[in-house]
Amino acid sequence: MRILGIESSCDETAAALIEIKGGKVLAHSNVIASQAKLHAKYGGVVPEVAARKHVEAVLPVIAEALGTDIAGLQKIPKIDVIAVTAGPGLVTSLLVGAETARVLSYIWKKPLVAVNHLEGHVYSSLLPDVRIMTKAHFPMLALIVSGGHTEIVYMKDHANYKIIGETRDDAVGEAFDKVAKMLSLGYPGGPEVSKQASIYRGEKSMLKFPRPMATSGDFDFSFAGLKTAVLYAIQKMKPEEVKKRTPEICAEFQNAATEVLIAKTIAAAKKYKVKTILLGGGVAANKQLREDLGVTIKTELPKVCYQIPHNEYIGDNAAMIAVAGYFHILKKDFTPWQKLDVDANWTIGQKRSKR
Ligand code: KG4
Ligand code: ZN
Repeated sequence: MRILGIESSCDETAAALIEIKGGKVLAHSNVIASQAKLHAKYGGVVPEVAARKHVEAVLPVIAEALGTDIAGLQKIPKIDVIAVTAGPGLVTSLLVGAETARVLSYIWKKPLVAVNHLEGHVYSSLLPDVRIMTKAHFPMLALIVSGGHTEIVYMKDHANYKIIGETRDDAVGEAFDKVAKMLSLGYPGGPEVSKQASIYRGEKSMLKFPRPMATSGDFDFSFAGLKTAVLYAIQKMKPEEVKKRTPEICAEFQNAATEVLIAKTIAAAKKYKVKTILLGGGVAANKQLREDLGVTIKTELPKVCYQIPHNEYIGDNAAMIAVAGYFHILKKDFTPWQKLDVDANWTIGQKRSKR
């Protein structure tokens, strides 16, 4: 089965062609046109600018993913299904991918599946070789950490999602971005904060940031207070001191953020007796989070399988959307092109609501 994936929920226009053969996923292409540099000068994604750039990029990106040019899109490609992100995300960005998918579905007469962006991040850790397709690996737990979301998702089967914990305020990626902004480190801030943290060589820092909700007894998170604690610490310092202590501030912030993420994931994995833990979303690029979660799983839950995405599938991409779409295809969960609607606040595992 060959699936064309299309993704445009935020500031990446992406298309991918994947083939599923004998339980294995072959990613024939994974094309991503990123607008990150463009938005960097504004310090964040500007929805209007993002939508315009998606309009410019969407057809060339899809053509490239299919190994052709724009004129070549008039010919029906060798695909079985189109999988497209229908939410959550910026509504004006989502609409570009969704409307394009609708038109292509109509003119090519190919069925459509609507995919939740976070499902894509769930499955990104299994690419490019989705060996984990058997019942033996369930139940699974996915820690999804991105710029807009921080969620622990329980899966008793493929494409069967239940949120058991989520952030009550900021997403962890958002907290990384805001801390970077306070320290004038640029956008997106996550990679810069982790780079700074990695150069901190101090023995013991006098800075001590809170571990929000660490003892709340549930699996929810909160990162707004941690971000404010960083702001207060910075406000107490003179500008030269902030500059000098930037690696230390980043390291302590990163310690606090990753510690709560790991503690809650491990507690949830124990409670729900899961067999697999998946990590996904942009913050999965964070070395400390990936490694420390791995070490903790090895020591506390040695029988649990741990999957992290390869570099090329960490950020927003369409291969992950196509793979998540595959499991909807298996359930015959198609959406006729006339009915494809986007939902900017679509919760994973639930029905989309109308605009
Ligand atoms: O999944 P993603 O690419 O887009 C969304 O769906 O939001 O995630 C982007 C987020 C941004 O907040 C970015 O700062 C963060 O992922 N990020 C990181 C790292 N690389 C990207 N956060 C921490 N450490 C990193 N190395
Ligand atoms: Zn994402």
